[in-house]
Amino acid sequence: MSSVDISVDLGRGLRLPNPVMTASGTFGYGEEASGYFDISRLGAVVVKGISAEPRQGNPPPRVVETPSGMLNSIGLQNVGMEIFISDKMPFLRDTGARVVVNVLGSSVEEYARVCERLDRVDGVLALEVNISCPNVKEGGVQFGMKESLAAGLVKVLREVTDKHLMVKLSPNCGDIAGIARAVEEAGADSVSLINTITGMEIDIRTRRPVLGGVVGGLSGPAIRPVALRMVHEVFRAVKIPVVGLGGIMEGEHALQFLIAGASAVQIGTATFTDPLAPLRVLESLSEYLQEKQISARELVGSLCLDRN
Ligand SMILES: Cc1cc2nc3c(=O)[nH]c(=O)nc-3n(C[C@H](O)[C@H](O)[C@H](O)COP(=O)(O)O)c2cc1C
Repeated sequence: MSSVDISVDLGRGLRLPNPVMTASGTFGYGEEASGYFDISRLGAVVVKGISAEPRQGNPPPRVVETPSGMLNSIGLQNVGMEIFISDKMPFLRDTGARVVVNVLGSSVEEYARVCERLDRVDGVLALEVNISCPNVKEGGVQFGMKESLAAGLVKVLREVTDKHLMVKLSPNCGDIAGIARAVEEAGADSVSLINTITGMEIDIRTRRPVLGGVVGGLSGPAIRPVALRMVHEVFRAVKIPVVGLGGIMEGEHALQFLIAGASAVQIGTATFTDPLAPLRVLESLSEYLQEKQISARELVGSLCLDRN
């Protein structure tokens, strides 16, 4: 049996040896997991979202387990771009991992500052723009909820960086395919989806929200069918590559996302129950492709809608 090609090319310099990445916020800056396995074996490592200045995040409790998932309200806590570049990037560069930096902001100007700064950093292959953040100048509405806000942001970022721009879509909007088309037209090189779905839990004894941030983002297996449906819709709406995520725990789930149209996948919440989950998914995906003698690229969007 000849060995099949599992590499993926997402365009503008983002060529990966395989389609499995980590999901932002669930893998820190790569250092914690590197004690478990060689993180350069993954397609790419997507790090925690970075803002211009360090952020403290929301008050505790910040996470709560829910049926088949979890809610988090970390609140964009991170070390800020300068400390990321001076303290976190050298380690990541040494591992040989392909690094994608997730970018956060509360205004167009803040996102632009971060992208412009990261544009000059060696070893950063791509910027993943988290558009689920609230825009303080627009009364806190998330960039990812309105086509005009999302497209306006991406247009500005396209001007300040030549690096691959992956735009991470929010599921908390009316028409995710419409937002995907808008950011594609504004200059995005790829889209990743989905971010968490807004939810909440209430303690009936105290009648208080369980999370310090009142509401939080739902992730894990509970959101997988929603994520898969959205990947299917977005794949049919745009020409740029789609990266799928949301509740992927096993290789089989990753295969579902590829068939729905994702060129690559990200593994998030699964790493909280098993730090080796991204590697496990990669190994089982590779095994399947090898056994079926089909390349990763051939599987992408191969969904069969014919019932006969
Ligand atoms: C604790 C936690 C922190 C997260 N932080 C970020 C972040 O900084 N930026 C971002 O774009 N997404 C963030 N996410 C969302 C994940 O990257 C991912 O989109 C989501 O959890 C769905 O995938 P999953 O079900 O595999 O976890 C975070 C998720 C969790 C659970």
